[in-house]
Amino acid sequence: MTTDPLFDLQDRVAIVTGGSGQLGQVYIAGLVERGMRVASFDVSSGTVPEGARAFDVDITDRAAVERAVDGVVRELGVPQLLVNNAGLDSPPDAPADEVGPFEEYPEAAFDAVMDVNVKGTFLCCQIVGGQMAREGRGSIVNVSSVYGMLSPVQDLYEFRRAQGETFVKPVAYSVSKSAVLNLTRYLATYWARDGVRVNTLTLAGVWNDQAKEFLEAFGARSPMGRMLDAHEALGAVVFLASDASSYVTGSNVVVDGGWSAW
Ligand SMILES: NC(=O)c1ccc[n+]([C@@H]2O[C@H](COP(=O)([O-])OP(=O)(O)OC[C@H]3O[C@@H](n4cnc5c(N)ncnc54)[C@H](O)[C@@H]3O)[C@@H](O)[C@H]2O)c1
Repeated sequence: MTTDPLFDLQDRVAIVTGGSGQLGQVYIAGLVERGMRVASFDVSSGTVPEGARAFDVDITDRAAVERAVDGVVRELGVPQLLVNNAGLDSPPDAPADEVGPFEEYPEAAFDAVMDVNVKGTFLCCQIVGGQMAREGRGSIVNVSSVYGMLSPVQDLYEFRRAQGETFVKPVAYSVSKSAVLNLTRYLATYWARDGVRVNTLTLAGVWNDQAKEFLEAFGARSPMGRMLDAHEALGAVVFLASDASSYVTGSNVVVDGGWSAW
């Protein structure tokens, strides 16, 4: 698709975790379109874009990740790209006790989010990154959020409180996404001389037909006045996957419409 060797991804192998989700599908479609052989690791049997191979994997289960990586190596080859995109946030319909006051945030919810967002990312890095290091090449993209760099702005959810609900954006997501930033730095230096680059991709909130009041509050807080369109996250993944980023490691690529700039 591209004739520019800087961005050429033709015939390279990628694993995208959480490939059935909103952003995962965009990454997979974009990478397949650029000639990559892509595997999705997801617990959900949801759709995966055409041309990709779907593996049923819970990334918190080491044996399951190892089995799936063996399958990828056998069927597609040793991965050159790993996008650690699978993640748990609190969905809008999360049980009331998960979006209540910090003082009452349930330990089980904290563990569940940390398990997927931190341990799952760690396990995929360990198993896939180890293979990449033995091959002497690879790129890992760990997905974080502005909520991992900064506190959530609780005012964005005021409209829910105005409707009589208790709604506090929970703590575990922020803590887990901060951990991703330093897992990236740790591994970037650890594998720097083995040809494996590790970077964080930090995103602001993605448009997903949210409530009008939320979109207005978000727009008012955002320098660009709007949420991220899922397709706008792809360019950074292509950059980090390709030779265009050959000297980029340990960095945090921030795609947030200026959210963190003021
Ligand atoms: N959507 C946003 O506003 C936003 C903003 C900043 C960062 N992010 C990050 O981007 C990534 C993708 O977000 P999204 O909005 O596409 O989410 P999503 O919920 O649409 O997709 C996440 C996917 O991860 C999968 N998953 C969850 N637990 C898993 C497990 N244990 N093993 C394997 N797969 C698992 C889910 O089944 C789902 O398909 C997440 O890491 C998220 O934190 C999203």
